[in-house]
Amino acid sequence: MLRRLAAHQPESFAFTPANEAWARAQITKYPPGRQASAIIPLLWRAQEQEGWLTKPAIEHVADMLGMAYIRALEVATFYFMFQLEPTGSVAHVQICGTLSCMLCGSEDLVAVCKKKIAPKPHTLSADGKFTWEEVECLGACANAPMAQIGKDYYEDLTAEGFEALLDRMAAGEVPVPGPQNGRYAAEPKSGLTSLTDHFAGRAPHNGSVQIAVDVGDTLKRIDGTEVPLRAAWLGAGEAAQVGHAPAAAVADAPGTRPAALAAPRAGGADDLTRIKGIGPKLAELCNAMGFYHFDQIAGWTAAEIAWVDANLEGFKGRVTRDGWVEQARALVAARKG
Ligand code: FES
Repeated sequence: MLRRLAAHQPESFAFTPANEAWARAQITKYPPGRQASAIIPLLWRAQEQEGWLTKPAIEHVADMLGMAYIRALEVATFYFMFQLEPTGSVAHVQICGTLSCMLCGSEDLVAVCKKKIAPKPHTLSADGKFTWEEVECLGACANAPMAQIGKDYYEDLTAEGFEALLDRMAAGEVPVPGPQNGRYAAEPKSGLTSLTDHFAGRAPHNGSVQIAVDVGDTLKRIDGTEVPLRAAWLGAGEAAQVGHAPAAAVADAPGTRPAALAAPRAGGADDLTRIKGIGPKLAELCNAMGFYHFDQIAGWTAAEIAWVDANLEGFKGRVTRDGWVEQARALVAARKG
């Protein structure tokens, strides 16, 4: 199957602040120089936030990881779990079409999708609420036919029951996932003939369903506020830096860290975007590192340039590439003259 980026793309992408902090914390799991290993979790979080993977999102993640865009695009287009077309605002429906599910009626479920959502997969429904696709075995064959809707499994489906589920979701409900025919889990459809005691005092839901109910994010877009960020692998000091640059990179970077300021001097920070190659995001990153003024940058030594170049997460090497120091010196000289 040809996997290409969608023809129509949004202008930009930004993680929510909580997702941004989460993403920066993930990057610190990897040793210096290996930040690209965080590509899949970061792309996945971008998709969880937006519902699908946009070109600006892929490029944003590539910038965060200091990767060439083509490397990030290769990952995004290789894995089928990444949705490259817009998905429904309520849910993306994945119907298992593999053997057990097909024998038990998955084609009827696909027919429902074609009728209620769109004739073709990866196409928004008229109201924009749903998209669908057929996928390979999702590992719930004993509860065939089944579908993954949002993040959870709806099992033992019938065409009528599946239609009703979609109607309830469209109305804002989140039906309880799991078997939809009264089965508890994957016990025989005809009822238990052994271990019946085991089920006598059972909880209302099987373990997977109970977790889905407890977490409650089956259909939710993830903005990062669902679970407090825990970065147990970071020390307290490092954890405090997660919001800015990856702590591990800061600790192990080559070169010498230039003198930094806790805040701009009286009179305010210089507009660092006057240096060609520094945009608003890079200026923000510089400020977060304690660099606010042209004369600070103008005074960087080779070792300090190396340090900053290595720590501009997502923009590594830009100081040298764009000649920041020379430009900053010219700006300082122009100010004096
Ligand atoms: S065949 Fe459908 S879940 Fe395995």
